[in-house]
Amino acid sequence: MLSLKNLSVSADSKQILQDINLEIGPSEIHCVMGPNGSGKSTLVNSLMGHPKYSVDAEQMSFQGKDLQELEPFERARLGIFLAQQYPKEIPGVNFLNFLTAAFNGCHSEIESFKPMKAFKMKKKIMPLLEDLNLNPDFLKRYLNHGFSGGEKKKAEILQLQLLDPNLALLDETDSGLDVDALRIVGEGVSKFVNSEKSVLIVTHYQRILEYLKPDFVHIIKDGRLVKSGGADLARKIEKEGFNWV
Ligand SMILES: Nc1ncnc2c1ncn2[C@@H]1O[C@H](COP(=O)(O)OP(=O)(O)O)[C@@H](O)[C@H]1O
Ligand SMILES: [Mg+2]
Repeated sequence: MLSLKNLSVSADSKQILQDINLEIGPSEIHCVMGPNGSGKSTLVNSLMGHPKYSVDAEQMSFQGKDLQELEPFERARLGIFLAQQYPKEIPGVNFLNFLTAAFNGCHSEIESFKPMKAFKMKKKIMPLLEDLNLNPDFLKRYLNHGFSGGEKKKAEILQLQLLDPNLALLDETDSGLDVDALRIVGEGVSKFVNSEKSVLIVTHYQRILEYLKPDFVHIIKDGRLVKSGGADLARKIEKEGFNWV
């Protein structure tokens, strides 16, 4: 599905990632770990096409298509989704309208697709809100505006479930959550995984991995992918840190 060959990424002429090689197949779960500032967010942001990063790669493709030639919205239409580490607050943009626009935008190239109206979208979203223990009043609020840290992460999961992509990039979606919110988010992600989709999750913690069993764990250090292994690698990192890598 996703194929990265010698991917290097820089921002403001600072080299951040170097020579990353990574293959993600259908229904595979990959976990990326690494010290703060090692380049994990840079990896997922550049896959989604964030304009602040310059990418140089022998190959950066998804389902055979060269991602470098595609705008972020075109990547989203192909079925790539990013749950951001720090979801942005956008005052003035109503959450329900945002979800409706995102859903319609992702499907607009399907010939038989008719754009959904917001009131219909609301019906579709209500059960998802309930599962996430979010009050329906959230739909009337501005996107992420004044949401708590946990509510922002739940809002990302709501988008994941609504857009139902083929590859989900989840950047520390488990950070800053209390135990109940972690369980709700974990169950949300595991539902997605059970529908045989692919996931690349950036995390610092073993506990989210109780909800999704990674097939591969990768360690990024100083902008390089230095080690790959199975789920046991995540347990070892949690116990022993990164110094031995
Ligand atoms: N726009 C930018 N300009 C310069 N440096 C940046 C920019 N964005 C990120 N960086 C730097 O790149 C490094 C990796 O950042 P990031 O990918 O956010 O790390 P991580 O997610 O692993 O904590 C950090 O040193 C960060 O300061
Ligand atoms: Mg990060």
